[in-house]
Parts: sequence; structure tokens; C-alpha cells
Amino acid sequence: VLARLLARPDLFQVTGVAVRNPGTARIPTVPRGLLCGDPAALLERPADVVVELLGGREPARELIARALAQGRHVVTANKALLADELGGLSALAARNGVSLRFAAAVGGALPALEAVRRAAAHGPLRSLAGVLNGTCNFVLDRCAAGDSYAEAVALARAAGYAEADATLDLDGADSAQKLSLLIHAAGGGSLPWEEIPRRGIDSLDEATLARSARQGRTWRLVASAERTAAGWSARVQPLELPPDHPLARPSGAGNALVIERADGEIVTLEARGAGRWPTTEAVMADLFDLSDSWGALAVETAAETAAAGWRQEGAA
Ligand SMILES: NC(=O)c1ccc[n+]([C@@H]2O[C@H](COP(=O)([O-])OP(=O)(O)OC[C@H]3O[C@@H](n4cnc5c(N)ncnc54)[C@H](OP(=O)(O)O)[C@@H]3O)[C@@H](O)[C@H]2O)c1
Repeated sequence: VLARLLARPDLFQVTGVAVRNPGTARIPTVPRGLLCGDPAALLERPADVVVELLGGREPARELIARALAQGRHVVTANKALLADELGGLSALAARNGVSLRFAAAVGGALPALEAVRRAAAHGPLRSLAGVLNGTCNFVLDRCAAGDSYAEAVALARAAGYAEADATLDLDGADSAQKLSLLIHAAGGGSLPWEEIPRRGIDSLDEATLARSARQGRTWRLVASAERTAAGWSARVQPLELPPDHPLARPSGAGNALVIERADGEIVTLEARGAGRWPTTEAVMADLFDLSDSWGALAVETAAETAAAGWRQEGAA
């Protein structure tokens, strides 16, 4: 993200970068004077936007809340935090007249939240179904190819798909957090991710996966939700899918999402999910959106200034 921001000095001026260990060598090199080891001190510097990519709950929550309260826009990729705190942080953003944006929190290069918001703007949605976790795709495909579950998880780690502790991916918690954000984007209010029933891919055995592969069928961890008279009903579970099913197609870091509108229209999206570059693209999409609105604000301000000048001249 830093490399992309520094490449557009016409749009963005980076006023500081906070990391945990400022002594660590970085690629790209952070320009002198920008690096700091204290994110709270960084918030003392001037900025219109704060980009939070620390991860975890604290100090990320406290820093985002402070930035919003200071009247700064915030862009974050922190799905785990937002799945718990979206309501409170969105309200804080609204009270301070700023935006809280988080395109990178779901789907990486797949603009999942935006697509759901757009579809919902055309009328109510009937259902959502997505493959939202690349680590699970990778492990399921390795098991289908004959690896044991433990070998497949170790390979996912070596390939950079899985975190050191991949539990949140494999037990479906990460997918439930993302589904909770998608339901919110669909206008479905707040469905806490812990209340979404979930079964992870750790519940599958290798013999079942190998047998399905021989039959040309694919297992995927599917996060799905339907609108009912009582609200949204949601779940995360492994499903065995035929090869031509849209949710069977993504492999590796691929993500897919099927959005069904109440009028029967179906929107299907597929793109690379997590990973350094897809996540960077999603963060930059939020920043470009914000910079578009600064353009509008600058034009408005110029027009207001001109109008004020005209009124003054008129009064004189
Ligand atoms: N990577 C992905 O594919 C992906 C996809 C979607 C969303 N996300 C989200 O993006 C966020 C970041 O993920 P990541 O994979 O980039 O994590 P990461 O590689 O661990 O990077 C985190 C960065 O934040 C800094 N940091 C962490 N805690 C800090 C603290 N207390 N004070 C100051 N700096 C701190 C770290 O500094 P040091 O370098 O000094 O340790 C590091 O530069 C997470 O919320 C994650 O869920 C990531």
C-alpha cells in the first residue's frame, strides 16, 4: 500500500507509517522521517485519512476510534475487528461526518461488499453464497490430490496462504466474520458472526475428499445466507459441489460470490481473494474513492469561495 501511495504524489501525501519494530528492514524502504514505532503518536500528525493495517483487536480498535473522533476518514482491512465492532465504529464515523471504508475486509480483489451494496440498492436481496477463504480452497484441493489434512495445512502455511495459527480459517470463523459483514452490506442489520452456525473443513475426512475427487466433485467451504420473514438466516459449512457450480470454480486464493436478488436476478463474481496484492488493490480502491470525493469537495469549496466573493462584491 505504501509503494502505491508513494507512486501517486499528485493524489496522496504520506505523513507517517507506524510499525511495531521500526528497526526491521522494509521493502519498499520507508522514507526517512515517516517511520515511527508508536501508532498513537502518528495520530498527532496531520492527515485526512488513516489506513489501519495492523490487524487484531487492540490497539487497532482504539486507534480507529480515535482517528474517527478526530474527524479523519479511516480505511481498514481488519475483518476480525469489524465483525465485532462495525455498528459502533460506523456510528462514530457518521457522528463525525467521515467515512469508515473496508473493501479489503472481504474478498480481496473481489469487490464483494461493493457488489452486495449495489445489488441491494436495486431492491431487496434473497440470498448470498460465497467461497470466501483461500486457505480452505488450498487445503481441500491438496487433500483431493491425496495429501493428508496435516500435510495440506503445512503446505498452505509454506505457500503463505495460512497464518501460523490457521484455526480461524479452517474452522470457518473467518468466513463467518466475512459473511456477517456481507449481510450488513445487504441491509440485513447486525448478525453477530459468533451466532452464525458453522462447521469448518476440519470436520471432513480425507477418504471422503479423495472419493469426491474421483467422482469429479469438489468440496468448498461455503458461507451462505437467505432472507427470511424473521430476518437473515446464515451458516458456514463445507459443501460437495458439481464441477460446473460457480462456487466450485475458485481454487487457491480464489474467492467467489453469488448474489441473488428478490426479483430473480443473479450476480456472480469471481476473483483472487486474500494475499498482498489483491488486498492492496482493495485498500487503494477505498483511497481512490475518497480522493474522488476530495476532488468534489475542493471544487465545491472553490465554487463557494467564488460565490461568497460574488456576494461580497454585490453587497459592496
Ligand atoms: N494479508 C492478507 O492477505 C490480508 C487479506 C485481507 C485482510 N487482511 C487484513 O489486513 C490486516 C494486516 O494483515 P497483514 O497480513 O498485512 O499483517 P502483517 O503482515 O502482520 O502486518 C501487520 C503490520 O502492522 C504492524 N503492527 C502490528 N501491530 C502493531 C502495533 N501494535 N503497533 C504498530 N504496528 C503494528 C506490523 O509491524 P512490524 O512489521 O514491525 O511487525 C506490520 O507492519 C489484518 O487486519 C488482516 O486481517 C490481510
